[in-house]
Amino acid sequence: MSESAVQFPLRRVLLSDDVDPRCVAILADAGIDAQLKVGLAPDALIAELTSGGYEGLVVRSATKVNRQVLEAATALRVVGRAGTGVDNIDLNAASERGVLVLNAPGGNTVSAAEHACTLLLGLTRRVHLADASMRAGRWDRKKFLGTELHGKTLAVVGLGRIGREVANRMRAFGMRTIGYDPMVTPEQAKEFGVEWMELDKLWPEADAVTLHVPLLPHTENLVNARVLASCRRGVFIINAARGGLVQEADLLAALESGQCGGAGLDVFAVEPPQDARLLQHERVLTTPHLGASTIEAQSRVAVEIAEQFVRLARGEGVHGA
Ligand code: NAD
Ligand code: MLT
Repeated sequence: MSESAVQFPLRRVLLSDDVDPRCVAILADAGIDAQLKVGLAPDALIAELTSGGYEGLVVRSATKVNRQVLEAATALRVVGRAGTGVDNIDLNAASERGVLVLNAPGGNTVSAAEHACTLLLGLTRRVHLADASMRAGRWDRKKFLGTELHGKTLAVVGLGRIGREVANRMRAFGMRTIGYDPMVTPEQAKEFGVEWMELDKLWPEADAVTLHVPLLPHTENLVNARVLASCRRGVFIINAARGGLVQEADLLAALESGQCGGAGLDVFAVEPPQDARLLQHERVLTTPHLGASTIEAQSRVAVEIAEQFVRLARGEGVHGA
Protein backbone atom coordinates (compact mmCIF):
# COMPACT_ATOMS: atom_id res chain seq x y z
CA MET A 1 0.00 0.00 0.00
CA SER A 2 1.32 3.43 -0.86
CA GLU A 3 0.32 6.71 0.75
CA SER A 4 -0.87 9.36 -1.68
CA ALA A 5 -1.56 13.01 -0.92
CA VAL A 6 -2.83 14.15 -4.30
CA GLN A 7 -5.78 16.48 -4.65
CA PHE A 8 -8.20 16.81 -7.52
CA PRO A 9 -11.77 17.89 -7.99
CA LEU A 10 -14.11 15.16 -6.78
CA ARG A 11 -17.53 16.60 -7.42
CA ARG A 12 -19.46 13.59 -8.75
CA VAL A 13 -19.19 9.95 -7.68
CA LEU A 14 -21.07 6.98 -9.11
CA LEU A 15 -21.77 3.98 -6.87
CA SER A 16 -22.47 1.12 -9.28
CA ASP A 17 -22.80 -1.73 -6.75
CA ASP A 18 -24.91 -2.21 -3.69
CA VAL A 19 -22.89 -0.25 -1.13
CA ASP A 20 -24.15 0.58 2.38
CA PRO A 21 -26.07 3.92 2.42
CA ARG A 22 -23.50 5.43 4.81
CA CYS A 23 -21.20 5.84 1.82
CA VAL A 24 -23.62 8.16 0.00
CA ALA A 25 -24.36 10.02 3.24
CA ILE A 26 -20.69 10.73 4.03
CA LEU A 27 -19.97 11.87 0.46
CA ALA A 28 -23.08 14.07 0.41
CA ASP A 29 -22.14 15.65 3.77
CA ALA A 30 -18.80 16.59 2.22
CA GLY A 31 -20.59 18.28 -0.70
CA ILE A 32 -19.91 15.47 -3.20
CA ASP A 33 -22.78 14.52 -5.53
CA ALA A 34 -23.07 10.72 -5.05
CA GLN A 35 -25.34 8.74 -7.36
CA LEU A 36 -26.30 5.11 -6.64
CA LYS A 37 -27.05 3.21 -9.88
CA VAL A 38 -26.80 -0.52 -9.33
CA GLY A 39 -26.92 -3.30 -11.94
CA LEU A 40 -25.81 -1.33 -15.02
CA ALA A 41 -24.84 -3.55 -17.96
CA PRO A 42 -21.25 -2.92 -19.22
CA ASP A 43 -22.42 -0.59 -22.02
CA ALA A 44 -24.78 1.27 -19.70
CA LEU A 45 -21.97 1.71 -17.15
CA ILE A 46 -19.73 3.28 -19.80
CA ALA A 47 -22.58 5.49 -21.02
CA GLU A 48 -23.35 6.63 -17.47
CA LEU A 49 -19.72 7.36 -16.64
CA THR A 50 -19.08 9.28 -19.84
CA SER A 51 -22.32 11.27 -19.96
CA GLY A 52 -22.33 11.92 -16.19
CA GLY A 53 -18.76 13.23 -16.04
CA TYR A 54 -18.07 11.27 -12.86
CA GLU A 55 -14.64 11.77 -11.31
CA GLY A 56 -15.11 8.92 -8.82
CA LEU A 57 -16.53 5.40 -8.99
CA VAL A 58 -17.30 3.13 -6.03
CA VAL A 59 -17.75 -0.61 -6.64
CA ARG A 60 -17.92 -3.93 -4.83
CA SER A 61 -17.18 -7.08 -6.85
CA ALA A 62 -20.04 -7.11 -9.37
CA THR A 63 -18.87 -4.15 -11.49
CA LYS A 64 -15.96 -5.04 -13.77
CA VAL A 65 -13.79 -1.96 -14.13
CA ASN A 66 -11.92 -3.18 -17.18
CA ARG A 67 -9.70 -1.38 -19.68
CA GLN A 68 -12.67 -0.46 -21.89
CA VAL A 69 -14.41 1.26 -18.98
CA LEU A 70 -11.25 3.04 -17.84
CA GLU A 71 -10.38 4.27 -21.33
CA ALA A 72 -13.93 5.48 -22.07
CA ALA A 73 -14.48 7.30 -18.76
CA THR A 74 -12.08 10.16 -19.39
CA ALA A 75 -13.25 12.24 -16.40
CA LEU A 76 -12.64 9.38 -13.99
CA ARG A 77 -9.83 10.01 -11.47
CA VAL A 78 -10.43 7.48 -8.71
CA VAL A 79 -12.00 4.04 -8.31
CA GLY A 80 -12.85 2.89 -4.78
CA ARG A 81 -13.42 -0.75 -3.93
CA ALA A 82 -15.76 -1.10 -0.94
CA GLY A 83 -14.00 -4.31 0.10
CA THR A 84 -10.64 -6.07 -0.09
CA GLY A 85 -9.96 -7.73 -3.47
CA VAL A 86 -9.28 -5.43 -6.43
CA ASP A 87 -9.19 -8.21 -9.04
CA ASN A 88 -12.33 -6.75 -10.71
CA ILE A 89 -10.34 -3.60 -11.54
CA ASP A 90 -7.74 -3.56 -14.33
CA LEU A 91 -4.87 -2.07 -12.31
CA ASN A 92 -2.54 -1.74 -15.32
CA ALA A 93 -5.13 0.20 -17.31
CA ALA A 94 -5.92 2.35 -14.27
CA SER A 95 -2.27 3.16 -13.74
CA GLU A 96 -1.76 3.97 -17.47
CA ARG A 97 -4.73 6.34 -17.31
CA GLY A 98 -3.56 7.86 -14.01
CA VAL A 99 -6.66 6.63 -12.20
CA LEU A 100 -6.09 6.04 -8.48
CA VAL A 101 -7.44 2.77 -7.07
CA LEU A 102 -8.41 2.63 -3.39
CA ASN A 103 -9.78 -0.24 -1.33
CA ALA A 104 -11.04 -0.86 2.18
CA PRO A 105 -8.90 -3.72 3.45
CA GLY A 106 -9.66 -4.97 6.89
CA GLY A 107 -13.26 -3.81 7.14
CA ASN A 108 -14.63 -7.21 6.22
CA THR A 109 -11.87 -9.43 7.66
CA VAL A 110 -13.86 -10.80 10.60
CA SER A 111 -16.98 -11.40 8.52
CA ALA A 112 -15.06 -13.24 5.80
CA ALA A 113 -13.22 -15.32 8.43
CA GLU A 114 -16.46 -16.21 10.20
CA HIS A 115 -17.96 -17.22 6.86
CA ALA A 116 -15.07 -19.55 5.99
CA CYS A 117 -15.43 -21.19 9.42
CA THR A 118 -19.20 -21.47 8.89
CA LEU A 119 -18.65 -23.26 5.58
CA LEU A 120 -16.25 -25.75 7.20
CA LEU A 121 -18.51 -26.43 10.18
CA GLY A 122 -21.66 -26.67 8.06
CA LEU A 123 -20.01 -28.92 5.50
CA THR A 124 -18.53 -31.42 7.96
CA ARG A 125 -21.91 -31.81 9.74
CA ARG A 126 -23.84 -31.82 6.43
CA VAL A 127 -26.11 -29.06 7.69
CA HIS A 128 -27.23 -28.08 4.19
CA LEU A 129 -28.48 -31.60 3.43
CA ALA A 130 -30.13 -32.09 6.82
CA ASP A 131 -31.91 -28.75 6.53
CA ALA A 132 -33.15 -29.56 3.00
CA SER A 133 -34.38 -32.93 4.27
CA MET A 134 -36.26 -31.34 7.20
CA ARG A 135 -37.84 -28.80 4.86
CA ALA A 136 -39.03 -31.71 2.71
CA GLY A 137 -40.84 -33.08 5.78
CA ARG A 138 -38.40 -35.90 6.57
CA TRP A 139 -36.70 -36.90 9.85
CA ASP A 140 -33.53 -38.62 8.63
CA ARG A 141 -31.36 -39.16 11.71
CA LYS A 142 -29.15 -41.84 10.16
CA LYS A 143 -28.42 -40.30 6.81
CA PHE A 144 -26.26 -37.36 7.86
CA LEU A 145 -23.30 -38.83 9.68
CA GLY A 146 -20.74 -36.06 10.12
CA THR A 147 -17.03 -35.69 10.83
CA GLU A 148 -15.50 -34.10 13.96
CA LEU A 149 -13.01 -31.30 13.52
CA HIS A 150 -11.33 -31.80 16.88
CA GLY A 151 -7.86 -33.29 16.42
CA LYS A 152 -7.91 -32.76 12.64
CA THR A 153 -5.47 -30.61 10.68
CA LEU A 154 -6.52 -27.43 8.91
CA ALA A 155 -4.21 -26.04 6.20
CA VAL A 156 -4.54 -22.28 5.86
CA VAL A 157 -3.19 -21.07 2.52
CA GLY A 158 -2.57 -17.33 2.82
CA LEU A 159 -1.72 -16.10 6.33
CA GLY A 160 -2.82 -12.49 5.91
CA ARG A 161 -5.69 -10.79 7.71
CA ILE A 162 -8.42 -13.38 7.05
CA GLY A 163 -6.27 -16.53 7.14
CA ARG A 164 -4.99 -15.69 10.63
CA GLU A 165 -8.50 -15.04 11.95
CA VAL A 166 -9.70 -18.37 10.54
CA ALA A 167 -6.76 -20.22 12.12
CA ASN A 168 -7.49 -18.62 15.52
CA ARG A 169 -11.13 -19.56 15.41
CA MET A 170 -10.62 -23.13 14.23
CA ARG A 171 -8.03 -23.80 16.92
CA ALA A 172 -10.86 -23.16 19.38
CA PHE A 173 -12.47 -26.26 17.83
CA GLY A 174 -9.37 -28.28 18.62
CA MET A 175 -7.89 -28.21 15.13
CA ARG A 176 -4.15 -28.21 14.50
CA THR A 177 -3.42 -25.29 12.16
CA ILE A 178 -0.68 -25.45 9.54
CA GLY A 179 -0.19 -22.83 6.85
CA TYR A 180 1.78 -21.31 4.01
CA ASP A 181 2.37 -17.71 2.96
CA PRO A 182 5.49 -16.51 1.09
CA MET A 183 5.39 -13.20 3.01
CA VAL A 184 5.25 -14.78 6.46
CA THR A 185 8.21 -16.49 8.13
CA PRO A 186 7.88 -19.72 10.11
CA GLU A 187 8.73 -17.73 13.27
CA GLN A 188 5.98 -15.18 12.62
CA ALA A 189 3.47 -17.96 11.88
CA LYS A 190 4.41 -19.69 15.13
CA GLU A 191 3.63 -16.49 17.04
CA PHE A 192 0.01 -16.67 15.90
CA GLY A 193 -0.23 -20.42 16.41
CA VAL A 194 0.28 -21.72 12.86
CA GLU A 195 2.94 -24.27 11.85
CA TRP A 196 4.42 -22.84 8.62
CA MET A 197 5.25 -25.32 5.86
CA GLU A 198 5.95 -25.30 2.14
CA LEU A 199 2.93 -26.12 -0.02
CA ASP A 200 4.18 -29.54 -1.16
CA LYS A 201 4.55 -30.56 2.52
CA LEU A 202 1.28 -28.94 3.54
CA TRP A 203 -1.18 -30.68 1.18
CA PRO A 204 -0.56 -34.27 2.37
CA GLU A 205 -0.96 -33.18 6.04
CA ALA A 206 -4.36 -31.53 5.62
CA ASP A 207 -7.77 -32.92 6.56
CA ALA A 208 -9.18 -29.57 5.41
CA VAL A 209 -7.78 -26.74 3.32
CA THR A 210 -8.98 -23.13 3.48
CA LEU A 211 -7.85 -20.55 0.92
CA HIS A 212 -7.17 -16.92 1.82
CA VAL A 213 -4.97 -15.57 -0.99
CA PRO A 214 -5.72 -12.93 -3.61
CA LEU A 215 -6.44 -14.00 -7.18
CA LEU A 216 -3.24 -13.27 -9.11
CA PRO A 217 -1.68 -14.98 -12.14
CA HIS A 218 0.45 -17.15 -9.80
CA THR A 219 -2.50 -18.17 -7.58
CA GLU A 220 -4.94 -18.98 -10.39
CA ASN A 221 -5.93 -22.70 -10.24
CA LEU A 222 -3.82 -23.11 -7.10
CA VAL A 223 -6.04 -26.06 -6.16
CA ASN A 224 -5.98 -28.36 -9.19
CA ALA A 225 -5.99 -32.10 -9.98
CA ARG A 226 -2.34 -32.51 -8.93
CA VAL A 227 -2.84 -30.74 -5.62
CA LEU A 228 -6.08 -32.58 -4.86
CA ALA A 229 -4.37 -35.91 -5.58
CA SER A 230 -1.59 -35.02 -3.12
CA CYS A 231 -4.06 -34.31 -0.30
CA ARG A 232 -5.41 -36.91 2.15
CA ARG A 233 -8.32 -38.89 0.77
CA GLY A 234 -11.57 -37.18 1.79
CA VAL A 235 -9.98 -33.72 2.22
CA PHE A 236 -12.42 -30.81 2.67
CA ILE A 237 -11.78 -27.72 0.55
CA ILE A 238 -13.04 -24.31 1.65
CA ASN A 239 -12.88 -21.31 -0.66
CA ALA A 240 -14.20 -17.96 0.55
CA ALA A 241 -11.45 -15.98 -1.20
CA ARG A 242 -11.72 -15.98 -5.01
CA GLY A 243 -13.23 -18.46 -7.47
CA GLY A 244 -10.31 -18.67 -9.85
CA LEU A 245 -8.14 -20.16 -7.09
CA VAL A 246 -9.80 -23.55 -7.55
CA GLN A 247 -9.89 -25.43 -10.84
CA GLU A 248 -13.60 -26.26 -10.70
CA ALA A 249 -13.60 -29.20 -13.15
CA ASP A 250 -10.75 -30.82 -11.18
CA LEU A 251 -12.63 -30.26 -7.93
CA LEU A 252 -15.77 -31.88 -9.36
CA ALA A 253 -13.75 -34.90 -10.52
CA ALA A 254 -12.17 -35.21 -7.04
CA LEU A 255 -15.60 -35.00 -5.40
CA GLU A 256 -16.90 -37.69 -7.70
CA SER A 257 -13.96 -40.01 -7.01
CA GLY A 258 -14.17 -39.41 -3.23
CA GLN A 259 -10.65 -37.93 -3.13
CA CYS A 260 -12.32 -34.70 -1.99
CA GLY A 261 -14.75 -35.29 0.89
CA GLY A 262 -16.59 -32.02 0.43
CA ALA A 263 -16.23 -28.42 -0.66
CA GLY A 264 -17.53 -25.22 0.90
CA LEU A 265 -17.60 -22.56 -1.79
CA ASP A 266 -18.54 -18.90 -1.47
CA VAL A 267 -16.84 -17.79 -4.69
CA PHE A 268 -16.73 -19.08 -8.25
CA ALA A 269 -14.62 -18.66 -11.37
CA VAL A 270 -17.63 -17.02 -13.05
CA GLU A 271 -20.25 -15.39 -10.84
CA PRO A 272 -23.04 -16.34 -10.86
CA PRO A 273 -21.69 -19.83 -11.71
CA GLN A 274 -22.84 -21.39 -14.95
CA ASP A 275 -22.21 -25.08 -14.32
CA ALA A 276 -24.85 -26.55 -12.00
CA ARG A 277 -22.99 -29.85 -11.46
CA LEU A 278 -20.74 -28.44 -8.75
CA LEU A 279 -23.55 -26.51 -7.05
CA GLN A 280 -25.83 -29.52 -6.97
CA HIS A 281 -23.25 -32.02 -5.79
CA GLU A 282 -24.40 -33.29 -2.39
CA ARG A 283 -20.98 -32.85 -0.81
CA VAL A 284 -20.82 -29.21 -1.84
CA LEU A 285 -22.09 -26.39 0.36
CA THR A 286 -22.37 -23.10 -1.49
CA THR A 287 -23.20 -19.46 -0.82
CA PRO A 288 -23.41 -16.63 -3.38
CA HIS A 289 -20.27 -14.62 -2.43
CA LEU A 290 -21.56 -13.73 1.02
CA GLY A 291 -18.24 -13.62 2.90
CA ALA A 292 -18.45 -9.87 3.49
CA SER A 293 -22.23 -9.67 3.62
CA THR A 294 -22.84 -8.67 7.20
CA ILE A 295 -24.30 -5.44 8.51
CA GLU A 296 -21.04 -4.69 10.33
CA ALA A 297 -18.66 -5.37 7.43
CA GLN A 298 -20.74 -3.51 4.87
CA SER A 299 -21.02 -0.53 7.15
CA ARG A 300 -17.25 -0.49 7.82
CA VAL A 301 -16.16 -0.77 4.18
CA ALA A 302 -18.70 1.85 3.05
CA VAL A 303 -17.52 4.32 5.67
CA GLU A 304 -13.86 3.56 5.00
CA ILE A 305 -14.08 4.12 1.25
CA ALA A 306 -16.25 7.26 1.60
CA GLU A 307 -13.85 8.77 4.14
CA GLN A 308 -10.92 8.08 1.79
CA PHE A 309 -12.77 9.88 -1.04
CA VAL A 310 -13.42 12.84 1.24
CA ARG A 311 -9.75 12.94 2.32
CA LEU A 312 -8.75 12.81 -1.32
CA ALA A 313 -11.06 15.69 -2.21
CA ARG A 314 -9.44 17.69 0.59
CA GLY A 315 -5.89 16.81 -0.49
CA GLU A 316 -5.20 14.64 2.55
CA GLY A 317 -3.28 11.31 2.36
CA VAL A 318 -4.98 8.08 1.32
CA HIS A 319 -3.81 4.48 0.92
CA GLY A 320 -3.73 3.21 -2.68
CA ALA A 321 -4.59 -0.47 -3.36
P1 NAD B 1 -4.35 -10.15 2.85
O1 NAD B 1 -3.67 -9.35 1.81
O2 NAD B 1 -4.34 -9.67 4.25
O3 NAD B 1 -3.76 -11.65 2.85
C1 NAD B 1 -3.50 -12.35 1.68
C2 NAD B 1 -2.23 -13.14 1.93
O4 NAD B 1 -2.03 -14.04 0.84
C3 NAD B 1 -0.98 -12.26 2.02
O5 NAD B 1 -0.35 -12.41 3.27
C4 NAD B 1 -0.09 -12.78 0.87
O6 NAD B 1 1.28 -12.79 1.19
C5 NAD B 1 -0.64 -14.17 0.72
N1 NAD B 1 -0.28 -14.83 -0.54
C6 NAD B 1 -0.10 -14.28 -1.76
N2 NAD B 1 0.23 -15.24 -2.66
C7 NAD B 1 0.23 -16.42 -1.97
C8 NAD B 1 0.48 -17.77 -2.34
N3 NAD B 1 0.81 -18.11 -3.60
N4 NAD B 1 0.39 -18.72 -1.40
C9 NAD B 1 0.08 -18.40 -0.12
N5 NAD B 1 -0.16 -17.13 0.29
C10 NAD B 1 -0.09 -16.17 -0.63
O7 NAD B 1 -5.84 -10.36 2.32
P2 NAD B 1 -7.11 -10.79 3.18
O8 NAD B 1 -7.79 -9.57 3.70
O9 NAD B 1 -6.74 -11.85 4.11
O10 NAD B 1 -8.04 -11.36 2.01
C11 NAD B 1 -7.70 -12.52 1.28
C12 NAD B 1 -8.57 -12.64 0.04
O11 NAD B 1 -9.90 -12.93 0.46
C13 NAD B 1 -8.71 -11.30 -0.72
O12 NAD B 1 -7.75 -11.18 -1.70
C14 NAD B 1 -10.10 -11.33 -1.29
O13 NAD B 1 -9.98 -11.75 -2.63
C15 NAD B 1 -10.82 -12.41 -0.49
N6 NAD B 1 -12.01 -11.91 0.21
C16 NAD B 1 -13.19 -12.50 -0.06
C17 NAD B 1 -14.33 -12.10 0.61
C18 NAD B 1 -15.67 -12.71 0.31
O14 NAD B 1 -16.67 -12.02 0.34
N7 NAD B 1 -15.75 -14.00 0.03
C19 NAD B 1 -14.25 -11.07 1.57
C20 NAD B 1 -13.01 -10.48 1.83
C21 NAD B 1 -11.88 -10.91 1.13
C1 MLT C 1 -13.82 -8.53 -0.96
O1 MLT C 1 -12.83 -8.77 -1.66
O2 MLT C 1 -13.81 -7.64 -0.09
C2 MLT C 1 -15.03 -9.38 -1.13
O3 MLT C 1 -15.16 -9.92 -2.35
C3 MLT C 1 -16.25 -8.80 -0.54
C4 MLT C 1 -17.25 -8.12 -1.42
O4 MLT C 1 -18.04 -8.79 -2.05
O5 MLT C 1 -17.31 -6.90 -1.46
